[in-house]
Amino acid sequence: MVEEEKKQVTGYLLFSLATAVIGSLQFGYNTGVINAPEQKLRAFFNNTWMERYAEPIKPGTCTIVWSLSVAIFSVGGMVGSFSVGVMADRFGRKLSMFLVNILAVIGGLLMGFSTICSSYEMVIAGRLVIGLFCGLFTGLTPMYVGELSPTPLRGAFGTLHQLGVVVGILVAQIFGLESLLGSDKLWPLLLALTVVPAVLQCILLPFCPESPRFLLINQNKEEQARKALVRLRGTEDVSKDMQEMKEESSKMAMEKKVTILELFRTAAYRQPLLIAVMLHLSQQLSGINAVFYYSTGIFESAGVTQPIYATIGAGAVNTVFTVVSLFLVERVGRRTLHLVGLAGMAISALLMTIALLLVGKGYSSLSYLSIGAVFLFVAMFEMGPGPIPWFIVAELFSQGPRPAAIAVAGCCNWTANFLVGVSFPKLEELCGPYVFIIFMILLIFFFIFTFIKVPETKGKTFDEIAREFGGAPPPPTTSVEAPPTSSSVTLPASPIKEKV
Ligand code: GLC
Repeated sequence: MVEEEKKQVTGYLLFSLATAVIGSLQFGYNTGVINAPEQKLRAFFNNTWMERYAEPIKPGTCTIVWSLSVAIFSVGGMVGSFSVGVMADRFGRKLSMFLVNILAVIGGLLMGFSTICSSYEMVIAGRLVIGLFCGLFTGLTPMYVGELSPTPLRGAFGTLHQLGVVVGILVAQIFGLESLLGSDKLWPLLLALTVVPAVLQCILLPFCPESPRFLLINQNKEEQARKALVRLRGTEDVSKDMQEMKEESSKMAMEKKVTILELFRTAAYRQPLLIAVMLHLSQQLSGINAVFYYSTGIFESAGVTQPIYATIGAGAVNTVFTVVSLFLVERVGRRTLHLVGLAGMAISALLMTIALLLVGKGYSSLSYLSIGAVFLFVAMFEMGPGPIPWFIVAELFSQGPRPAAIAVAGCCNWTANFLVGVSFPKLEELCGPYVFIIFMILLIFFFIFTFIKVPETKGKTFDEIAREFGGAPPPPTTSVEAPPTSSSVTLPASPIKEKV
């Protein structure tokens, strides 16, 4: 039914979404940027050490400083993503995005001036601040995009966040080439470049609207919400959107804002929360970042002669398949794409293992099989497990619990990201060419979970989705004046009552 609705896409909507997606681009850029200049950073750590202590840095100490610079980004991400709910509710979506950019400027400048100040501490501090910044944006962008998008296009637009991420990774990979910004002299600029999109976003944001849902449901500013919607949809007739939001709003009056603690305590939220967290875990424990953090090493051990170009190839495949997913997600649905992606990744992990084993046995011509398997792995990731978890959490929860749910799910994502990042080199050492079998087993587990537990959310309003989890039939009337639905609607009508 919703499918037949007019899809209201205006230039203003696209402009607002594009502005928000600059945050996703930043997340991708800062994820991908640190790998290429590894040797340059290590040399800088050594030089600084020499200046200070007149002796070279010990290899062990150098590795600690290096690993800290890489991993502290995820620690910042965990804290940032966890804080997103409080921030988005207090300052609103738009002002939050604006303010968070201050972190990018601080982090970028810290890293950019680290060589001038001869301080590797500034690189570490900068990475921490940038992690905080990215953690906040992995919540803010999907929230804003989800709340602005018309229902029939929420999935396609939701995928824009991931598209921003993958383009950011690709740009970082390309800029990181030695001949561009990955050189001895220019790497601080490579790390500081994140300031530019931050400033750009701050210039553009004042022209974007605050989320109409936030205006109406959280702030009760009906006229402003209507005005924002009229501009976004390009039509005076926004009664349908307004009506849907008002219904949610009338329930919110009973529901109020949901804190993270209440989210865990409320029985009605348990099922969607479990699904949200598991989908995010499936994204990270699929092993995708083993590829994005360490692909150059993986290609090397598979006998590829120009691994850096294979890595950039993976970044390109990554981008192309995110676009494919963007076009498929409203046709095929979230659930199916996620399942296809997980299954495809499990098969690729097996192929990768076979390729690594055979190359190890001397079949060096099979290094192409390993490149093919990694490309397939990445492509399948972007079909579903890449984009879907980021936007589906905004769909699974109504306005009250949404920010808290996004915070919890995002924090799980960053924690799993951190764990894979720090443990993969050790796992590889322990398991050798069999290392991807671990991910294959996890992928099969997540496939089974998704098959059994995850509902389809395509084309449904936030309210319809929430009601499905409540297990109650839709209310007989859609009138705006309708009183808050009875206690049979367990979510989000009155979850307070459902507390255990
Ligand atoms: C997702 C993941 C991120 C990963 C990226 C790869 O956005 O959250 O960790 O690096 O996809 O495309």
